[in-house]
Amino acid sequence: MEFRELVGRRYSVKKFSDRPVEAEKLNEILEAGRLAPTAKNSQPQRIYVLQSAEAIKKMEELSPCVYGAKTVLLFAYNENEEFRNPLEKGIHSGVEDVSIVATHVMLRAADLGLGTCWCNFFPNSRTAQAFGLPPDEKAVLFMPVGYAAPDAAPLPPHSSRKPLSETVKYL
Ligand SMILES: Cc1cc2nc3c(=O)[nH]c(=O)nc-3n(C[C@H](O)[C@H](O)[C@H](O)COP(=O)(O)O)c2cc1C
Repeated sequence: MEFRELVGRRYSVKKFSDRPVEAEKLNEILEAGRLAPTAKNSQPQRIYVLQSAEAIKKMEELSPCVYGAKTVLLFAYNENEEFRNPLEKGIHSGVEDVSIVATHVMLRAADLGLGTCWCNFFPNSRTAQAFGLPPDEKAVLFMPVGYAAPDAAPLPPHSSRKPLSETVKYL
């Protein structure tokens, strides 16, 4: 699929079928994340693959946005590995880094016919605790991954994007 067509066709899937994600496809999408750029190549990302019934149930108890997926990726970063901007106090790259990794994963998933939904509606710290993440890892987002249910469809926001004139300024 052409990249342009891919980004046009991707949408947030909010209803998944029971069809499991093949291990090869899961590896492919994780590999796309591995190749993502990170600040100073620090690669602070950590991705937790939730697939056991127990882990999925736990995630469902933490957020209403699992949408029936049987695979959920929890994206975090290690705050001891992120880049700290020496020119601006408090500006660190962890959230940027893990977001680029997650974007690679999301787009490669779409390329392989898989649906995803980027989700940040969850209690970050409580989720990190619930899954036993080390204290220096911050959970940023989770992403249900799977095959869209036959009746899944993009929600109206998918086709509502601001024109470039509102979001891009030439200086
Ligand atoms: C940073 C971010 C956080 C989001 N969090 C959630 C979420 O918690 N739950 C959810 O159902 N969708 C979530 N979404 C999906 C957005 O609502 C969706 O991308 C947007 O409405 C555009 O629709 P589309 O992805 O179908 O094009 C999130 C998307 C982004 C980029």
